[in-house]
Amino acid sequence: MNVLLVSRGATHHGGHDAIHRLAAAVAEATSVPVRACFLDGAEPSLHAALDAAPEHAEVLLVATHLPPDRYLDTWLRRAVAHWRTTRDRQVRVLLAPPLATQPALVTAVSDAITGAHTTLDGNPGPFRSPAWSQITRHRRHVLVCRGPRCTAYGANQVVATLGNRLKEHGLGDDDVLVTATGCLFPCNLGPLVVVYPDDTWYEHVDAGLAVRIADVHLRDGTPIDGRRHHRGDTAVNPEP
Ligand code: FES
Repeated sequence: MNVLLVSRGATHHGGHDAIHRLAAAVAEATSVPVRACFLDGAEPSLHAALDAAPEHAEVLLVATHLPPDRYLDTWLRRAVAHWRTTRDRQVRVLLAPPLATQPALVTAVSDAITGAHTTLDGNPGPFRSPAWSQITRHRRHVLVCRGPRCTAYGANQVVATLGNRLKEHGLGDDDVLVTATGCLFPCNLGPLVVVYPDDTWYEHVDAGLAVRIADVHLRDGTPIDGRRHHRGDTAVNPEP
């Protein structure tokens, strides 16, 4: 049995390492192979983690979220169904009961109540620093979808490639502001990268196209024909 702790990277900012640490701790406690993966917003993606499972393996998915997250529960099923129909693999995928229904959760919260406490008396300055009033002077705003479908299609690699390339070109937030987003709707065109104010929607972006977008569009200022749309367009061939 292989175990995957599946959580949402898009809504658990800064919690990715904690999930990986939890997976390592559970693996040590159970002597079972346990890995962490993400439905969206971080890597490895659920698809990549399933790809890494040995042939003929049984993979148990544990949706790792508190409180209950209906989005994760719903999309977990859809993502696995997509993975199964796009791979020629003999892997049996199982689903564990929600963590929120585990009786041990009550014990964990009770222990937290009766355990050692920390007084919260920190400086409120960082909450309302003047820096958070400053709108950047960016020439272009790039939205990179990290929703569940785009993540399944490879958005994690797109984000990394785009970021690295812009850095190589010395383009910071005041030149090109890159924002990772949740689902932008035309999921069949994913991974999606959108550039404003040019109203340019790039479809099926892979690492190679991400490099060209950074070089030709974001550095040199020329949108790339062939894989782009505008608001309101419908792709002729929406399937990746
Ligand atoms: S997941 Fe990217 S557009 Fe829906």
